[in-house]
Amino acid sequence: MTAWPAAAAASLLIAVLSCCEAAQAIRTHGGGAGAYVSALGDPGMRRDGLRVAWEAWNFCNEVGQEAPGMGSPRGADCFDLETSVGEDGQPVYEVVHRVSDAENNLRAGDPFPGAAENGRPARPFAQTSRFPCPGGAGCMNQPLVFHNRTALDAGSRWLRGGVFGTYELDAADDRLGLGSGGDVSYYSVTWEKEVASTNGWVFHHKLRTSKKVPESPDFKVRVTLEVKQGGGPNSQFYLMDMGSCWKNNGKPCDGDTATDVTRYSEMIINPDTPAWCKPSRIDPCPPWHTFRNGTRVHRSDAARFPYAAYHVYCSPGNARRAEQPTTYCDAYSNPQTQEILQLVPHPVWGEFGYPTAKGQGWIGDPRAWELDVGALSQALYFYQDPGTTPARRRWTSLDVGTEIYVSENAEAEWTLSGFDILVPDTCAKSGQGTSNSCCW
Ligand SMILES: *[C@@H]1O[C@H](CO)[C@@H](O)[C@H](O)[C@H]1NC(C)=O
Ligand SMILES: *[C@@H]1O[C@H](CO)[C@@H](O)[C@H](O)[C@H]1NC(C)=O
Repeated sequence: MTAWPAAAAASLLIAVLSCCEAAQAIRTHGGGAGAYVSALGDPGMRRDGLRVAWEAWNFCNEVGQEAPGMGSPRGADCFDLETSVGEDGQPVYEVVHRVSDAENNLRAGDPFPGAAENGRPARPFAQTSRFPCPGGAGCMNQPLVFHNRTALDAGSRWLRGGVFGTYELDAADDRLGLGSGGDVSYYSVTWEKEVASTNGWVFHHKLRTSKKVPESPDFKVRVTLEVKQGGGPNSQFYLMDMGSCWKNNGKPCDGDTATDVTRYSEMIINPDTPAWCKPSRIDPCPPWHTFRNGTRVHRSDAARFPYAAYHVYCSPGNARRAEQPTTYCDAYSNPQTQEILQLVPHPVWGEFGYPTAKGQGWIGDPRAWELDVGALSQALYFYQDPGTTPARRRWTSLDVGTEIYVSENAEAEWTLSGFDILVPDTCAKSGQGTSNSCCW
């Protein structure tokens, strides 16, 4: 048994509505030319029903070993709140769950593709300085995951649910209820909402959307973030982490893990995170920076390239024509080969609504953000084989939260609310399924 305290946190994914469902439920955020409308169908997440999904990740997902008795570290809490009228004429609420415990308990042996080192099957690997495993035993284990199904409180006023657990397999059950106290690594996410209130769901801890984000490069994300504890110097706290997938030849991913490449861009707001990209060390820099007006600057242009805007860039392990020198990404943390572009606050990001200085949005500075995610995602550098048609960048996941990298006894705590995705209303008016530049 291998345990690795607080090495990585579980990710919570919020699976909202599919694109088509969203189109039917669109609500506007203002009028007139240039206005934006919500693509979520539930702006600010104010509906009493909810779709939550979670998934645990660590540096050894490819190895495919589950925690004993736990099944796959994935699950969902999806429900609708049904209302009827009681004998006294008062509303009576009932939480109707849409995902069964049996579905949440799926485990290895059930057919599921994936498991690979850069897309090829892998075995537990030897300890390296980059991904040290205590005891040198190879891989970090998957976590224990416990689920509190969303339920009404005794007075039928509040809906509450949660997920919690630990990466330490020998942690006694009675210590888990105690939160992050003591020496046991712990994570928990709770969500709550007052029934029938216009105040949306509040997530205490971590959230990721796995909704199909509009394919349009023109969309914004609205989110209110309050960081209470940051998770220490090695906490890669993402104000926004977006994920997509395309092949190095620009074609869309099709499930072939040998050639699919997942791509991530992450804005890290922990002020302890340095820019490793420097004029004197360009291998962790992307080859190009593109300003919003389209002007491109090469990383060899020491006078104009914004080195301090980049924490680290790493190339896909199968990028045969990657510009040298380069750093290749970790081959083990993801079902496919990956490419990662990590940003830190810098004046160049201001033109996209992102933080421009260290400390913005961090502890003591809770903020409502309106991030021009679509425009930024089009401007960022991602690898493609030379001479291939540029990929269509479809961002299928958005994430706010932290990954605590190789550190012990670190704690992070934050709340996230008012989540929404906005698309231009011209896009919404263009109708379903027709426009190339829109989601539906
Ligand atoms: C789970 O439920 C227990 C019992 O009601 C409660 O004490 C605990 O705080 C809940 N945890 C989460 C993460 O929801
Ligand atoms: C584009 O924007 C950058 C950064 O603001 C600026 O330095 C550059 O002069 C602009 N280029 C053009 C053609 O406007």
